[in-house]
Amino acid sequence: MLTAPEPVIIFDTTLRDGEQSPGCSMARAEKLRVARALAELGVDVIEAGFPAASRGDWESVNAVAREVQGAVICALARCNREDIELAAQALREAPRHRLHVFLATSAIHRQHKLNMAQDEILRLAVDAVRIARDLCADVEFSPEDASRTELEFLAQVVEAVIDAGATTVNIPDTVGYTVPDEFAELFRYLRKNVRGIERAVLSVHCHDDLGMAVANSLTAVVAGARQIECTINGIGERAGNCSLEEVVMALKTRATFFNVSNRVQTTKLYPTSRLVSSITGQPIPRNKAVVGENAFAHESGIHQHGMLKHHSTYEIMRPEDVGLTRSHLVLGKHSGRHAFRERVQELGFALDELEFNRVFEEFKALADKKKELFDGDIEALVLRAEGHAAGPWSLLGLRTVADSAAPAEAHVRLQHADGRVVERSARGDGPVDAAFKAIEAATGIEASLRKFELRSVSVGEDAQGEAIVYVEYNERSYRGSSVSTNIVESSTMAFLEVLNRIELSQTSLRSREERAGGARVQPAAV
Ligand code: KIV
Ligand code: ZN
Repeated sequence: MLTAPEPVIIFDTTLRDGEQSPGCSMARAEKLRVARALAELGVDVIEAGFPAASRGDWESVNAVAREVQGAVICALARCNREDIELAAQALREAPRHRLHVFLATSAIHRQHKLNMAQDEILRLAVDAVRIARDLCADVEFSPEDASRTELEFLAQVVEAVIDAGATTVNIPDTVGYTVPDEFAELFRYLRKNVRGIERAVLSVHCHDDLGMAVANSLTAVVAGARQIECTINGIGERAGNCSLEEVVMALKTRATFFNVSNRVQTTKLYPTSRLVSSITGQPIPRNKAVVGENAFAHESGIHQHGMLKHHSTYEIMRPEDVGLTRSHLVLGKHSGRHAFRERVQELGFALDELEFNRVFEEFKALADKKKELFDGDIEALVLRAEGHAAGPWSLLGLRTVADSAAPAEAHVRLQHADGRVVERSARGDGPVDAAFKAIEAATGIEASLRKFELRSVSVGEDAQGEAIVYVEYNERSYRGSSVSTNIVESSTMAFLEVLNRIELSQTSLRSREERAGGARVQPAAV
């Protein structure tokens, strides 16, 4: 007979390990949106960042700690007093918070990275946990590269940090090296050989270098782990981390096998995954498990026939369980507010009346241009409305002329929040290049375009195109995105969003420098 399911803690590190990966960095306002979505999704712990990494990181963790309710807010620190105190200060306003300290333990890291002997590592780890415990009752310790650490030494470290007051001990497979059987054995070894192991929650943290992060995390749960560290869409260092949506759906779909429970509301998985993808500009592969476009699509005749007889023939999860509804063809210009509101809710978005009215207006404008609106169109409208970076500049008009025999021309008309209306024309290598040059001339901000991506967010001849631009300015990277049926317009809006961010961050930098009496201040993310 089955015993009652034991709770397993879902620890999300999208904003720390996820954000650390190339191309995934987020501005403070974006981190707040993700943190709010994670709290609504029902994760237990949100690792909001690494405050000692930069002033911007400290401010983001602090903003999440102040403004996001419903989850424990956690911050990462190295094993030194300065890092730990910075993290504790950033977290102090969160009603429930956790300090997460880490130190590498493997021979490879000891020798090549830290140049430290085992006893030094042991002492540093214990001291750090004690410092953290003086500041916070909830302390997690991670022996980095645990899966490549000598078993006896790992057990010694784990025992010592629990004695020093660690309430959670996390076992990272930092480089994604382990395999399920070996990793389960490691957890069993620790449970058998560490005195006092029952006083701490055992946690698992896996990377996906060999594509086994989810499998290794699940096997750790079978072997006694009661916290899983994961990220939305599996984003993270190198090949990424254990994907939250996959691990949670595996626990749900095979509930009798795993016999553990968690608080995640799986119907919010799909909208949360789309939100993170739209903010980071990292597309979700079509064949991605659980949230990919093809995850519930059935193409072959035999499969379609089986599905028509009974969905369980080829479907182990229901699309609605992850927040995906079956209908793809949705609304058009004759659809009313009621139908639109229902569709927005079915897609998992909760908008207040003001936001809803704004999105509905945009929906009507789009429906005038586009015959049929698909789920992707509606998601793009809502995500754009939620994330609208209100900047000083707005676009009043854009005209472009593209001629295969001559340089393209663009004319833009922009309005600044201070009331100025500025018009500029420019020539370029194609209409997008010309529009970017005209915008630079109008705003007076010259930025270096590093990368430019275009992708379709819906289907059909009149599908909307999302433009994502990556720009560098004063040694800082910025990213902006926008969606429209006209790709020159979406590209121009995305570029303008970036220049708005640059202007906002320059203004805030100047005022902080003035307050600091002219001293140079490190730029903070806006
Ligand atoms: O992968 C890793 O080892 C980490 C630790 C900081 C937990 O991210
Ligand atoms: Zn990691």
